[in-house]
Amino acid sequence: MKVLIVGGGGREHALAWCAAKSKRVSEVLVAPGNAGTHLEPGVRNVQVRDDDIAGLLDLAAREAVNLTIVGPEAPLVAGVRDAFDANGLACFGPSAQAAALEGSKSFTKEFLRSQGIPTADFSIVETVEEGRAVIAQRGVPLVVKADGLAAGKGVTICGDEDSAEQAVIEALQDLKFGEAGRQLVIEEFLDGEEASFICLCDGQTALPLATSQDHKARFDGDQGPNTGGMGAYSPAPVVTRAVHDRIMHEVINPTLAGMAARGAPYQGFLYAGLMITPQGAPKVIEFNVRLGDPEAQPLVMRLQGDLIEACLAALDGKLDRFTLAWDERHALGVVMVSDGYPGSYAKGERITMQDAEAQDVKVFHAGTSLKQGVLVTNGGRVLCVTALGDTIASAQARAYESAQRIDWPGARYRMDIGHRAVARDSAIN
Ligand code: AMP
Ligand code: GLY
Repeated sequence: MKVLIVGGGGREHALAWCAAKSKRVSEVLVAPGNAGTHLEPGVRNVQVRDDDIAGLLDLAAREAVNLTIVGPEAPLVAGVRDAFDANGLACFGPSAQAAALEGSKSFTKEFLRSQGIPTADFSIVETVEEGRAVIAQRGVPLVVKADGLAAGKGVTICGDEDSAEQAVIEALQDLKFGEAGRQLVIEEFLDGEEASFICLCDGQTALPLATSQDHKARFDGDQGPNTGGMGAYSPAPVVTRAVHDRIMHEVINPTLAGMAARGAPYQGFLYAGLMITPQGAPKVIEFNVRLGDPEAQPLVMRLQGDLIEACLAALDGKLDRFTLAWDERHALGVVMVSDGYPGSYAKGERITMQDAEAQDVKVFHAGTSLKQGVLVTNGGRVLCVTALGDTIASAQARAYESAQRIDWPGARYRMDIGHRAVARDSAIN
């Protein structure tokens, strides 16, 4: 069968690589893809943008695609799944109504509250006056969030009342996040360690993937501005067996039940961004309606089962009878970015790579392209160098060894991806 992956980042390279390994798959198309997917055996890029729903429908029909898997959230929130359904084409990802779990923070917070799912206590405000009142009443620290999709930039953590008021004014008066910031969620600051908990869902049943954790801050020691993710690893030791059970019972299962009860059964990847409190209680920070990026890269390195079979079972509503096998080893990915990211950065810099890949080491591309056959940078997050190891420390060492074999003038990366897991591991051994 033919599979179409929608998107052009590191997650989509990981999905395409994984799909190409499936025995069921004869060819993988990626729209629009990147240099990494272009170079991948069994994979072909097609120049259709990931938000061009009409173009994607046309492509899937023209190429007789049997299954489309959508990587990024924007086309899902815009209704790509609904459009494929209406045209009788198989598409894995939530409907627009279900994708509100990422598309609207206020919807999600109200949903969590009504389902009794643990999350930070919150208020929703639409005017600066309301914002001031909530800040005065709640006190600091607190977190100010734009309601809609703001490309990961709509969240401000405020340690004092002035910066909280500033964040409210910038969103509501200056429209810093455009329409996405016309409504704000102001919520309690949560203490603990973050984890990413990602499931495949068929509307009724959730099949959890292996656990993972990413590093959002740009600089070592988790300092500096938030990014899309500077690295990730799997498993995440903070998610112990007991925490795992609590997440399924307190967060994931009630989410699926609540969405089904609202007439919007959730089918697709569901990513719960969680804070695990020092007492081991999970609290929802956010939902994403997709696989994480860069969590997907270490996850696919550990996946031994067939992802395409899993997506087909989910579309059939048969995940209750499906299992996925995972490599026991640890996987860790280091994201190499362009100097300046998450602010502005140069594009078109020539990338050199010498023997960067080996057994159990894979370089997933994100912002790359080929210019007259030469590999160049084409984005903020450029590559994710991912390795497997018997321990988290050995996976980390192998990923960094490989990153050292890659260079371009503005190449930058954090040197401490996985530091929490490595510290826990050495504490145990
Ligand atoms: P979000 O876009 O909602 O995932 O927020 C981005 C990041 O901000 C999260 O990954 C957390 O690191 C941080 N964050 C968001 N909400 C909270 C909160 N209530 N308490 C502490 N940190 C938060
Ligand atoms: N790694 C965070 C995200 O995919 O949003």
